[in-house]
Amino acid sequence: MHVIAEAHPNIALIKYWGKSDLPGNVPAVPSLSVTLGGLTTRTEAELTRSPGNEFVMNGAIVEDVRVLACIDRFRAAAGHENGVRVTTVNDFPTAAGLASSASGFAALVGALNGLFDLNMRPAKLSLEARRGSASAARSIHGGFVSLTGDADDPESWQGRQVAPAEHWPLEVVVAICSNAAKSVSSSDGMRASAATSPYYDRWVSGADDDYQQAQATIQARDFDTLAHLSESSCLNMHALMLSTKPPLIYWNAATLACIARVRALQADDVPVFFTIDAGPQLKAVCLPDAGEAVAAALSAVEGVEGIIRSRIGGAMRLVETPDAP
Ligand code: PMV
Repeated sequence: MHVIAEAHPNIALIKYWGKSDLPGNVPAVPSLSVTLGGLTTRTEAELTRSPGNEFVMNGAIVEDVRVLACIDRFRAAAGHENGVRVTTVNDFPTAAGLASSASGFAALVGALNGLFDLNMRPAKLSLEARRGSASAARSIHGGFVSLTGDADDPESWQGRQVAPAEHWPLEVVVAICSNAAKSVSSSDGMRASAATSPYYDRWVSGADDDYQQAQATIQARDFDTLAHLSESSCLNMHALMLSTKPPLIYWNAATLACIARVRALQADDVPVFFTIDAGPQLKAVCLPDAGEAVAAALSAVEGVEGIIRSRIGGAMRLVETPDAP
């Protein structure tokens, strides 16, 4: 008996950084992302005869407590005694600020849901994915996706599609500025920022406004306003990271050179803006006609190790149904 699920990572145009006090890994602020159809995590879940679980990522056994806890939650929900082997492969660099945990947990909950025939709906799967990695709640859905909820209700914090991919077929050009895994995980970094950055409270109080404006901007397909809001959310988040003690510096020289290149393209009226997560990769979001020029410009930047071009992608899906028992 085995099930395979696929999911795409997402990049936040309006970022979250920091957790609320609610149980279940709930963000402190709302966020809004696009799903990256050109990058994929493929995850297979199968029952084994042993009582323990096994997690194999990109060919190596990994002791990831969040993944193993997720498997155990699904086993408990299904009332199943057997252990589960999960095998997952990313077709892009892992743990380097390309949201591999987002696509990873989205594909994981999808595969476990299928394996145990639990018939969970996307809303419930999004909640389950969020427990592993909050941004994974958004990768259950395709297109433009929000992650919001009520301040006092953890169950309300789930990913919801704001608009499908067809609503606004943007392109995302990822400049790989390093293939190395990041040194400080998002969860550790967020904890440190909340505890030590003098700007943390301002970040939290301003987030809702940015989110509301960005949502309206996406509905209106207003590229220039989205560019402004998104770059500002990204730079505010990195200001928070830089002001954390000890500082969180996720950028490298190539990241900065890519920012300068995006600024030069903008000065030439190319419709493009950048965003960067907890890693050195720069993601340039552009109108599709500009994709070729943006990819060529970023691939010529010193230190860029590769370019991935992606359109906005779809939801998590099963690629194989369970074999007959
Ligand atoms: O939920 P995590 O641990 O994947 O953290 C994601 C944090 C950022 O990617 C930097 C921002 C975001 O909203 O995705």
